[in-house]
Amino acid sequence: MSSQDFPTEETAVVTCGLPYANGDLHVGHLRGYTAADAFNRALERIGQETAYVSGSDMHGTPVAVNAWQEGVSPEEFSLEWHEQYAETFPKFDVDFDNYGHTHDETNTELTREIVRELEAEGFVEERTIEVAWDPEEDQALPDRYVEGTCPYCGEQARGDECDEGCGRHLEPGEIEDPVSTVTGNPAEYREREHKFFTVSKLADFLTEFLDDLDGTDNARNQPRQWIEEGLQDWCITRDMDWGIDYPGEHSSEDDLVLYVWVDAPIEYIASTKQYSERVGADVYDWEDAWNGSEQSDSENAGEIVHFIGRDIIQHHTIFWPAMLHVAGYDTPRAVCATGFITINGKGLSTSRNRAIWAQEYLDEGFHPDLLRYYLTTNGGLQQDIDFSWEKFADRVNGELVGTLGNFAYRGMLFAFRNYDGTPEATVSEEVEAEIEDAIDSVHAAVNEYDVRAIGTAPVELARFGNEYIQRNEPWSLVDDEPEAAAQVIYDCVQLSKACAVLAEPVMPGTAEELWTQLGEDGSVHDVELEAALEPPADEFEEPTELFEGVEDERVEELDAKLADRVASAADGEDESNVDESDDAADGDSAADTDATDEDAESADDVPADLDPVLEDRIGFEEFQDLDLRVGRIETAEGIEGADELVKLTVDIGVEVRQIVAGLKQLHDVDELPGTKVVVMANLEAAELFGVESDGMVLAAGEQADLLTTYEDAVPGERVR
Ligand code: 2FM
Ligand code: ZN
Repeated sequence: MSSQDFPTEETAVVTCGLPYANGDLHVGHLRGYTAADAFNRALERIGQETAYVSGSDMHGTPVAVNAWQEGVSPEEFSLEWHEQYAETFPKFDVDFDNYGHTHDETNTELTREIVRELEAEGFVEERTIEVAWDPEEDQALPDRYVEGTCPYCGEQARGDECDEGCGRHLEPGEIEDPVSTVTGNPAEYREREHKFFTVSKLADFLTEFLDDLDGTDNARNQPRQWIEEGLQDWCITRDMDWGIDYPGEHSSEDDLVLYVWVDAPIEYIASTKQYSERVGADVYDWEDAWNGSEQSDSENAGEIVHFIGRDIIQHHTIFWPAMLHVAGYDTPRAVCATGFITINGKGLSTSRNRAIWAQEYLDEGFHPDLLRYYLTTNGGLQQDIDFSWEKFADRVNGELVGTLGNFAYRGMLFAFRNYDGTPEATVSEEVEAEIEDAIDSVHAAVNEYDVRAIGTAPVELARFGNEYIQRNEPWSLVDDEPEAAAQVIYDCVQLSKACAVLAEPVMPGTAEELWTQLGEDGSVHDVELEAALEPPADEFEEPTELFEGVEDERVEELDAKLADRVASAADGEDESNVDESDDAADGDSAADTDATDEDAESADDVPADLDPVLEDRIGFEEFQDLDLRVGRIETAEGIEGADELVKLTVDIGVEVRQIVAGLKQLHDVDELPGTKVVVMANLEAAELFGVESDGMVLAAGEQADLLTTYEDAVPGERVR
C-alpha cells in the first residue's frame, strides 16, 4: 500500500455495491450503504473532494428469474424496485450524489464503449463452450437458471457462484449435476459460442495492483490466493434477452447479452458521469476521478474507493480492475469488503422473513441514526455482526442516550439556564487538546478505512465530557467561583459543538439537530472537522434531548413480532413445500448475509439468539475423556482453494500439531502466530481441502472468538 494520506489534491469517488433491483431492502444492504456514506461524509469533513455514487443493478438472472416468477417483464420489475430504492436510501440519510441504474443510456453506452476497447486491445476471444440447457423448455440456463454442485467444494451452488460454500465465481459449464430452476429437470449441456475476457494474461498486473491496494485485508488476501492458483479467463456473454447486447461481432446464431457483472461495475463510472453532468465539470469532474492519472502528474490520481460485501471480492479485485486497466481507466485505490450480518445469531434469510426490513424499521418510528450507528460501530468492517433488538436497545440506551445525548443535554441546559447560551471564556487547554486528539483520530480512521472508529469518535468525546463535568462540578462553583464555572460550561459547549461535527458522518440527522440547538449558523454538513474548535455561538435556546431510549417492553414486542414472522414464513414453507432453493432466488449477493443459514425454528422456549443447552448430561468421566490442552500457534497460512481455512501449526507442549481452522475471514492470519489457544487434542484427525487436521482449535460464536488462557498456563497443560 503506497497511497498518499487523505485529503489529497485528487478527486475521490466512493461507491457501494449495486443492489440487484429485485426485492425489499434490509439491514444487510444498509450495513454497506451506511458505512460507505459515513466514510464519504468523513472524507468531506477532512476536506477531500469526493462524490458518493451507486445505482440499481437491473440486469442478469437475479432480476430475470424473480421477474419471471412474478410474471412481469424484467424491465418493469426492476424499474419498480429501482424507484423504491431511490426513495428509501435518503430516508436513511444515505446521501448519494448520484443514484442511477445499469439499464440507463449512460451505462449502456459506456459499457459498449469499454467492451469495444477490451476487444480492440486484443483481450476478447470467442470460444465454443458447453452451457447448461433445459431440454424441455429448449432454452439455455445461464447463472441462476441452473443449480448444482460446486466443483471446488462440493456444496450446493448457483450457476455462477458457490453461494453456500466456498464463495467462488463459477464459469458456465463448471457446475456439476446441473438442475434447471425453470422446470426442476436435470439440465443437459450444449455447445455455444461465447466471448471471453482473457483475464489470465493479466496476472502480473493484478498482483501489482493488489500490492498497492488499500482497504480491508480480506480484499487483498483472497485474490492473491486465486492468482496463485491460476486465473481463468472470464466468459462475458450469456444466452439471454435481458441485458446489454454484446456490442461487437459474434458467431452465435442467437443474440448474446453481456454477463451482468460486466455492466454492473461500469455503473460506478456511469453514475459518477451523470453526477458530473448534472453539477458541471467545474464542480466535480468524473474524469478526474476515473481517469485522473491521464490528466495529472500525480501517481496517486483517481481516488476510487469501493465498499462491497465480502462475497463479491473476486469481482472487484480481479475482473473489475482488469477491465479498468485494459480500457484505460484508473484502478481502485481501496476496496473495503464488509462482513455479513446475522439476526439473533442466525443467518439473515429473506425467504424466511428473518430480516429487519428497511421500511419496517422506519415504520417502527426509530430514527435512522440509531441504526446507522449500530451497523457502523458494532464491529470492524470485515467482521460479521449480529443484529438483535436487545443489542440495539443496549447500544442506543447506553452509548447514545446515556453518553452522547446525556452529555450534550446537561451541559447545554446548564449553559442555557445560567448564561442564555455560551458563557464568556475561551476553551481550556485540556479540552482543546482532547478535541484535537479526537479530530486526529478521525483523520487516522479515514486513512485506515476504519468506519467504526469514525462512528465512535463523538461518543468517546462525550464520555470525556461527562467525566469532565463530573470532575469539575460547575453547579458547586456557579455562586462562589463564577469564572471557574463559566470556564467549565464554556468547555462543555465547545465539546458539544465538537460532538456535532464528529457525529456528522455516522449520525448526520442528529449532528444537524445538535448544531441547530447550539445556535450555529449554516449546516454541519458543510463544515470541516476543524470547525469543532471554532468558538461556539453566543446564544441558544433551551436544548431538548437528542435521543429517545428503547424500553425493555418495546424490545420484547419487537422480538415477538420477528419471531412470529419467522414462524409464519416457516409454516408457509411447510404448506407450500418450498425448499431451500427458494433462498437462491432471493437475489442480492452483495447484501445476502450468511451462507450457513440454519433451519427456521420456532423460538418457543429459547432466547432467540442462543441454542438451548443439550438435554443429555454427561458424567465427569466422560468429560475427562476430552483431552483439552493449552496450545500456542506457531505458524499460520491460508489453504489454497479454501476461502475460510487456515493451516496452523500449534505447539501443545508434548508435540507440535498441524490443525486446520476456519479463521481466515475473521482473523488477520499474520497476527495468529504467538496466540495462546485451547486445543481439543484427542479429536480424530480429519482431512479438510486435502490438508490433514490433527485436532481442533476452540473458538466461540460467529466471530470465531478464540478461547485462550489469561495467566501463566503453558502449552501442554490440560484444561479442566
Ligand atoms: O452481488 C450483488 O448484489 C450485485 N448486484 C453487486 C454489483 S456491485 C457492482 F459491481 F456493480
Ligand atoms: Zn464451492
